[in-house]
Amino acid sequence: MTVTPLQKFRNSAFVEGLHTIADQTVGWQSPSNIAIVKYWGKKNGQFPLTPSLSLTLSRATTRTTVHAFRGGPGKGLVSVNGDANHPFLPKMTQLLAWMSEEIPVLQETTLEVVTENSFPHSTGIASSASGISAFTLCLLDLANTILGTGVEPGELVHMASFASRMGSGSACRSLYGGYAFWGESPLVTGSSDAFAVPVTGLVHPDMVSLKDAILVISGKPKSLPSTLGHKGMEGHPFYSSRIVQANKNMEEALQALCANDFEKLASVAENEALTLHALIMSANHGTLLMKPATVEAVQCIRDARRNGLPLFFTLDAGANVHVLYPSGASREVEQFIGDALQPLCEEGRVIFDGCGNGPVKLNESLSDS
Ligand code: DP6
Repeated sequence: MTVTPLQKFRNSAFVEGLHTIADQTVGWQSPSNIAIVKYWGKKNGQFPLTPSLSLTLSRATTRTTVHAFRGGPGKGLVSVNGDANHPFLPKMTQLLAWMSEEIPVLQETTLEVVTENSFPHSTGIASSASGISAFTLCLLDLANTILGTGVEPGELVHMASFASRMGSGSACRSLYGGYAFWGESPLVTGSSDAFAVPVTGLVHPDMVSLKDAILVISGKPKSLPSTLGHKGMEGHPFYSSRIVQANKNMEEALQALCANDFEKLASVAENEALTLHALIMSANHGTLLMKPATVEAVQCIRDARRNGLPLFFTLDAGANVHVLYPSGASREVEQFIGDALQPLCEEGRVIFDGCGNGPVKLNESLSDS
């Protein structure tokens, strides 16, 4: 068997009498993230085709509590928010099954999950990144408590990055505040395809306080599930050139973040966003995810930057637009957003967020803050 970051748990067997499962509750709050350099395409299962780099959000979070008990209606995950048919259940059950192979004690438990997002559904904020990372932290914390493994918080977070990747690739980057890097690359020491690493220490402080205003162009669920979207990279006509481009963009994004070169970061981030959509459009059975208001917002943002306003955009696999700007320019940029961009949004919806600090452990229940 290969050694993985979860090895410590594999070595600790559940011993009846020594360990107890009765009524354990753990809770974690974990943020979403927005990629500057995109993860698009997979290799060898759940590994990224290219390295990616993201900014961890602050306000867009998921708070999850897992309640574990022995016996009960059946082993495994029985409900999410009291619902035995909750839409999150299949993805969570799949991740739990994978983690149970590595941490058998998780098979001994009956689990009930209570989870809530701080942000409205279908706003273009990736709820799988925050939801899966929060759930993974809960499962690992639970195993740590039951088995008395003594895993320290830093190591727990590293393990959670490794394991949450199996639930959703982008979730592995949500474990770290500031900026997180996922994918093996000579550019970042210790980087790996199997987990994300924090790179905030390399980044200029002004870049760690960037703001992100999310323009909700459409509140309708996006038409392309990302797992299906990644598949579109298999046999894609631009497969090889995408690998070259992503690695080059990564080098430039890291240079820009270290040197506080806002123009350079803007240029790389926008190139990545438009490339993501170009790849989606030109895939077999390609889809067009932008709406007319997406294109209008993008052009408006570029014109404003040309006129000296420090802002740039990025896009996820959907119609909504993330507007990034330095916190020092909040007043002017937010004025511009209100005047020029907000009218393009569905019901004028803009969600104001910014770079955040990563996951937080909750005390006992969702009612704690
Ligand atoms: C466009 O992490 O949602 O947001 O690994 O299949 O769950 P799975 O995909 P997911 O893909 C995210 C794609 C993206 C870009 C990014 O976040 O890097």
